[in-house]
Amino acid sequence: MSRTIIPLTPRQPFGPEALANCQQALASGRLSSVDGPFTSELERRFAQFYGAEHAVSASSGTAAIHSAVAALGLEPGTEVIVGPITDAGSITPLLYEGLIPTFCDLDEHLAMTPETIRPAITERTGAIMIIHLFGGVSDSAGIRRLADEHGLRVLEDCSQAHATRLGSRHVGTFGDIGMFSMQQSKHLTSGDGGVCITDDPDLAQRLRLFRDKGWDRSATAKRSYPMLGLNYRITELQSAVALPQLDTLEAVVARRRELAGRLDAALSTVPGFSPWVSPPAGEASYWCYPFFVEADRRDPIAARLTERGIPVTPGYIGAPIFECLVATQDRQTFGDSQYPFTLARPDFDYGDVDLPVTRDALSRVIVFWLHEHLTDAEVDAVAEAVREAIAEDER
Ligand SMILES: Cc1ncc(COP(=O)(O)O)c(C=O)c1O
Repeated sequence: MSRTIIPLTPRQPFGPEALANCQQALASGRLSSVDGPFTSELERRFAQFYGAEHAVSASSGTAAIHSAVAALGLEPGTEVIVGPITDAGSITPLLYEGLIPTFCDLDEHLAMTPETIRPAITERTGAIMIIHLFGGVSDSAGIRRLADEHGLRVLEDCSQAHATRLGSRHVGTFGDIGMFSMQQSKHLTSGDGGVCITDDPDLAQRLRLFRDKGWDRSATAKRSYPMLGLNYRITELQSAVALPQLDTLEAVVARRRELAGRLDAALSTVPGFSPWVSPPAGEASYWCYPFFVEADRRDPIAARLTERGIPVTPGYIGAPIFECLVATQDRQTFGDSQYPFTLARPDFDYGDVDLPVTRDALSRVIVFWLHEHLTDAEVDAVAEAVREAIAEDER
């Protein structure tokens, strides 16, 4: 019975280029992104990387998602279908814009598909927000076709899926807007930060306005705020740190994929272990390495791994996101108003949402926080520890 700690190389996403950029930004005496050279270069390079016409930065992934939702300009009370395993940052922007998040189940690969989404479409649905969970690839092209049939907008939350390919394109380029978080754990990080990409010039303009208090800075005569907005501007330091990572992003994703393949090969025949079979639509970028065990063994197995210094999270977020948020679960939103539910769906009850695949997956999943700086030997040692934890738990 082994209880030794397995030493793992920590992730270090910030190299000498980031340091030099930060020094340059500080030396310039200006850290605001308004007219900031690092931010305009980050936006230019981000758009170029994805082959998108426009990239618009924001202070966080949540801010990017809020900007994207606001840019669509949907009528309050409209429903937006979202994947049920995600961060609060995908959901709260909808509530702030007076929209009602509704949810669809996932398939066995933990992906939203046209088939899982279709039953959630109602006459009040206005948009679909795809969550590319864990760096897996939902079938954005198929979902786009379904949305077009119903006249719906499509947002792609790529916070966990930077540089993730679907055919010859990356996810984030199939919807009206793709949104990326640059929070600490993401493939490309500035600690916090976010970026939206779009090909639509009008949406791009609304994104720019929304994240800058609605301020149209091109208007010379008098101050003008043609759109309701917030200050969600990124700073030059965030952009300075993020920029060099666009050069290494493909390598980061390739290395994560390689390590995930190594874990799959070492573990897939272990009794009691089931790998996450990433969605076949594209190639996963492995924001993390999820795997499955029996539900009643999940927590003890995860505890054994934690004891050995292996970073894992049993159950990921634990429950569908609407059960984690008081704003959806108990409708505690703005005072006692229960807005926006009272606008259009006073009867709406998240208890009625049937998500058998999602709930089963959450009950069995353990997320291992894989990253690109782990060595082959470290990942082999993790695989061995997982095998031992499962075997010891069985005894
Ligand atoms: C899928 C998803 N959406 C949205 C967010 C929110 O991003 P941020 O934490 O940068 O606000 C995150 C990140 O935590 C995420 O993983």
